[in-house]
Amino acid sequence: MKGLVLAGGTATRLFPLTIVTNKHLLPIYDRPMIYYPIATLAGMGIREVMVVVGGKSVGDVVELLADGEHFGVHLTYRYQRGALGIAHAIGLARDFVGDEAFCCVLGDNVLLGPPLATAAREFETGPWGAGTLLYEVADPERFGVAELNAAGDVIGFEEKPAEPKSNLIPIGVYFLRPDAFGVIDQLVPSRRGELEITDLLNHYLPGRLFARKFDGLWTDAGTVTSLIRAAELAEQESRSGHLIAPPTRPGT
Ligand code: G1P
Repeated sequence: MKGLVLAGGTATRLFPLTIVTNKHLLPIYDRPMIYYPIATLAGMGIREVMVVVGGKSVGDVVELLADGEHFGVHLTYRYQRGALGIAHAIGLARDFVGDEAFCCVLGDNVLLGPPLATAAREFETGPWGAGTLLYEVADPERFGVAELNAAGDVIGFEEKPAEPKSNLIPIGVYFLRPDAFGVIDQLVPSRRGELEITDLLNHYLPGRLFARKFDGLWTDAGTVTSLIRAAELAEQESRSGHLIAPPTRPGT
């Protein structure tokens, strides 16, 4: 499988922290934010990763991550102009992905817990068209929200609904195959002018969507409150010995 990290966008929810720097460079406990999604992909056994960059200080992101050797991955970069949504950013990876299945992780998502190699393999070898991981949160209206039927199966996702149908959200981990690019071509921008990931996932419902609960600790880090929470969770993991030391840059 190939990997994709989405690190574009303008990060207005973190202004003024992100007026002159890239959100993904901000510290979460003892390392830059973008180290977490790269570690998540590396933990799945993925070795070829594209980072979609955008917004401020893109050169600093490349300088920090370099060729990815210190994470045990090989990195490629692609530039996303503007903030046109997650599904749009995924669409930029078409040539990189080729004919392989791939996993996309949002650059501001922090997953702390056991590696996801089993989930990745289950998706790759299974009959699924797309997949995501679900997590229970107290404020689902901030995210995509899953709707489930009586049997507990996901029957749809809504992006940032005023009245959430559950507390389960699809976190920013998406398992996809190359046919997703044809679906993305058909998506229309939402009211906020973005190609929404939830619209892409809904294409595979009912029946072809792989959804598993993530049983580690998760948070996004795209707002001031969640950025603080991410640092607290990482510190907690570090104290309990679960967070491995951050990799240094090659040659340093
Ligand atoms: C995005 C997605 C949302 C998902 C969330 C996870 O929202 O649109 O479906 O639940 O990431 O972090 P964002 O917070 O980037 O607007």
